Amino acid sequence: MSKHTETRRVTVPSIRALKGREKIVCLTAYTAPIAALLDPHVDLLLVGDSVGMVVHGLSTTTAVTLEMMILHGQAVMRGAHHALVVVDLPFGTYERSCEQAHESAVRVMKETGCQAVKVEAGEALAGTIAYLVERGIPVMGHVGLRPQAVHVDGGFKAKGRSAQERDRVMADARAADQAGAFAIVLEGVAAGLAEEITRSVGAPTIGIGAASACDGQILVTDDMLGVFEWTPKFVRRYADLHTAISQAASGYARDVRAGTFPGEAETYRFKQA
Ligand code: KIV
Repeated sequence: MSKHTETRRVTVPSIRALKGREKIVCLTAYTAPIAALLDPHVDLLLVGDSVGMVVHGLSTTTAVTLEMMILHGQAVMRGAHHALVVVDLPFGTYERSCEQAHESAVRVMKETGCQAVKVEAGEALAGTIAYLVERGIPVMGHVGLRPQAVHVDGGFKAKGRSAQERDRVMADARAADQAGAFAIVLEGVAAGLAEEITRSVGAPTIGIGAASACDGQILVTDDMLGVFEWTPKFVRRYADLHTAISQAASGYARDVRAGTFPGEAETYRFKQA
């Protein structure tokens, strides 16, 4: 008999209601078992298109497809029963028109069961955010460092360190807010600017590399768990899985080569009748 887990998820309005009251805790997830482990501790799980880099070994997120997002979204929905689940719309699946964005978002929501989508969009796509929200699709905005714009920016670069950039990021955040985004990710945004945006918009701001004044925080889970040897400056490692996994693999290899694995405890024996 399969174990029944009651599903009662955090809702979009309840995330909005946390602004100014309680910090919003968010992490990324891409698989069912990790989603299940994170779920009791967080308010929101993001199936980020960072999956392309973190799980699939790509050097940027631009090659991530809608099919990849749907597959990982389905896995996370099977693992999580509490957190609000948001799935990223990947590069090339929403920028062309409101209709294209609507088609992609509807497909993601129908095929995964997730409650919202995220788009790396501010002022330029404010009309698209409004179009989706008016049609029943909750949207999370994402401004500042937009990884899908890596080739325009020439790398993953923090934003808001010059006056011109400050105005751009502020305008993007305000536009996403006015268009109806229920929350806005601020990525790689200078501390003072993140604080000013957080004060100026009605939607909760979720920071990643945007200091502590944001209404909530998100990290790429694999960075936070220390899976990789290198992590960006803004990541705090809460575990060292890089070392733990390397040590486990080395111990397993040693035991297989020495003929000590499997041992008696790991071996099936013929049952006497
Ligand atoms: O794709 C992702 O994981 C993200 C977070 C870094 C916010 O967009």
